[in-house]
This record gives sequence, structure tokens and C-alpha cells, in this order.
Amino acid sequence: MNKPLAVEIRSSFDVDAVRADFPILRQQINGHPLVYLDNGATTQKPQMVIDAICRFYSEDNSNVHRGAHTLSDRATEKFEAARKALADFIHAPDQREVIWTRGTTESVNLVAQSWGRKNLQPGDRVLVSAMEHHSNIVPWQMVCAEKGATVEPIAVDENGCIELDAFRSMLDERVKMVAVNHVSNALGTINPVAEMARLAHEAGALILVDGAQAASHWMVDVEAIDCDFYALSGHKMFGPTGIGLLWGRAELLEAMPPWLGGGEMIESVSFAGTTYNQIPFKFEAGTPNIADAIGLAAAVTYLNSLDRDGAIAHEKALLNYALEKAAAFEGLRLVGTAVQRVSVMSFVLEGIHAADIGMLLDQQGVAVRTGNHCAQPIMDQFGLDGTVRASFSFYNTFEDVDRLFAALEKAREFLL
Ligand code: ALA
Repeated sequence: MNKPLAVEIRSSFDVDAVRADFPILRQQINGHPLVYLDNGATTQKPQMVIDAICRFYSEDNSNVHRGAHTLSDRATEKFEAARKALADFIHAPDQREVIWTRGTTESVNLVAQSWGRKNLQPGDRVLVSAMEHHSNIVPWQMVCAEKGATVEPIAVDENGCIELDAFRSMLDERVKMVAVNHVSNALGTINPVAEMARLAHEAGALILVDGAQAASHWMVDVEAIDCDFYALSGHKMFGPTGIGLLWGRAELLEAMPPWLGGGEMIESVSFAGTTYNQIPFKFEAGTPNIADAIGLAAAVTYLNSLDRDGAIAHEKALLNYALEKAAAFEGLRLVGTAVQRVSVMSFVLEGIHAADIGMLLDQQGVAVRTGNHCAQPIMDQFGLDGTVRASFSFYNTFEDVDRLFAALEKAREFLL
């Protein structure tokens, strides 16, 4: 008989060694060893990231691009090296195309407020998928309301997949922007963003990809996707909170007006008229989040040091193992059953509210997210006010999956 896939993978990816890099995982929660399955909300940080931030503040702290002294030079060098590391990580052709932001939400708002306010006209259309996070819906609603344009949802089927034919038929010359997530945070679906980019471009539209949930699972390649903008959050890829990036094509960024005004983003200021800096600095008003940019670069170094193929295979095996257990668990219904998906399992248990399950799992040391996952439209489509979401990362184990289902069993016994 063939060995089960899970066992084969366990021997090829050293999950124990990887777990040792994440100090937070070595703790008890409510008297139980922590099982952290809320990686979609935020990932944990390896010691290397924590050390990089600590080292910056202990040894290098200074402002960037300003000072005439050694510390400032050192901080500037590390800060710009971090930009280059992120550019390389996402295969950006030019590091000037990487703009530091607070995260994906700010990146989408930047494009909506800068590109959108300049380019959208009354009657124009912005297409977003019906399974977007609110952060890739509301910024478009805000700018479209101001400009007389509309935001329209691209249909998603009962498995949680974008209906490509419906998308195709929506495309016309009034569509100016398609904004879609690479991976759905609520369902785990991997969207066909390269195909969507091709179709959007054929119709004369631009495409922005929200990559918040993708970079923790595999290597992102903006050139291969051939999108126009790509947004990321550091904290969802093992880096710090409060830092992320917007990647955009240089010619688009150069033609876009600044969004926030202040220091750094200017070339010269006078009451007769102000001129603006080059990209990326034109979009980076004020002192940036230097330490966390350096911390995010450490996260990228960490990811590059991992056996990424092994990590991907391990996550896949975890998901398959969880799905097998889910199929045998009475009353459990999966929400989102796309074939192409990351290691996210969103589900409901018949007769039990998701929030109650979350609370009872936490009492047993198992951390999941419950609720609408900031994706109310897709929850409405499924007729739900929320789900339980277990989101796995490469540092999770098969024992974590067992603990999840054992805790669910107890929760069900208690609640029903
Ligand atoms: N967007 C994050 C999530 O999906 C917070 O949980």
C-alpha cells in the first residue's frame, strides 16, 4: 500500500526546525500548547525579524535621506537595501517601482486616490470580484462616488471561484480598472490573476492585484502576472505590522499625482509653486517606517532561506489532511471549495454560531478567526454572517490539525 501523502511530506520538510525559529509558538494558551491557525489574519515572526528590528533601534536608528552623519547614512543604506530586497522578492523590474506603505489597505487607497481621482470619469466602471476584502472595495467606492463612476462586482460561483465568462462579458471600453485579490482571505481561492490581467488589458483596462494573502504561501512574480499594480502587507508574510508595499509600473506611477503631501515627497517648495520628487519618494511623504521596512526585508531573507517547495508541499498536505477530517466531521460544511486554493479552510458547523466555536477553541489553545473576515459581500452571497476560518502556515503540523478537530468535537459536545 502507498504511504499516505502526509507522512511522505513530513519527512521532506523539517517543520520542527522551522518552528524553532518562531518563539511565540512555544507557549501555552489557557493551559494548552498554542495551536496557531490564524495565519490569514497575521503570520508569526521568526526570531530573525525580531532581531533585525531590535538591531536597527539598538545600533542604527536615524532618519533616512536627510542626515549628514554616519548613522543616517547607515539607516538610509539599510532602508534602500530593504526596498531592493522586496523588489527582487516580487520580481519587480525596477526598485523605484516599490513604494512603502502601511500595508495593502493603504496601497489600494493610494491607487484609488491618486490614479483614480486623476483618471476616472463619470460613467467609468471599476470591476472588483464579489469575494474582495473590504479594503479592495471601499477605496473604489469612495473615489467612484466622487467621480461619478461605478464599482461593479464580478460574479463568484458556489465553489468560491470567479466566473471568468461573466468577467469577460463585463469588459468594455468604460471599464478602467479591475481590482481583484490574488487569494481570497475568506475562502482561500487562488484567482487566475494572470488570465484576468490579459483580459483586462485587451479591453484597455488596468488591473490591481491585492496580494495580501498570497506572499506567505508562494513566490509572487509581478512580471509573470503582468499586472499594473500589486499590493502587499508585511505582517501577513512573517514581517512586522505597519509596513507593506505598493508595486506599480514605473510609467503609471510617474504619471500619477502625489497622494499625501509633506517632507520627502517634494523636489522644491515655494509659495509660487511646489514640484515633486521622483518615484518612489513622490509617494512617501513624511518619515517612513524605517525599522519595519528593514524587518520586512529580514522576513524576505528568511523566506528565501527556506525550502520553499517543501513548505508549499507541506501546506498542501496539511490542507488535504484537514479536508479529509472535515469530510468525516458531522455537521461541518465547507465555505469555499475551489480546487485552486491555499491552505485555508473556512467552514460552518450546523446549529452553532461561528463566534461560539472560536471562543471554545481558544479555551483549548486553538486560535482561529471567526466572523465575516472583512468580506461581507461574499458572506451575504453564501447566506452567512460568518464562518470559522482555520488558516495554516508552513510552521503548522499535522498534530495541529488533529488538535483543531479534537477541539471542535469538544465544542460541539458542549454546545449541542
Ligand atoms: N484581512 C485579515 C484577515 O483575513 C485581517 O483575517
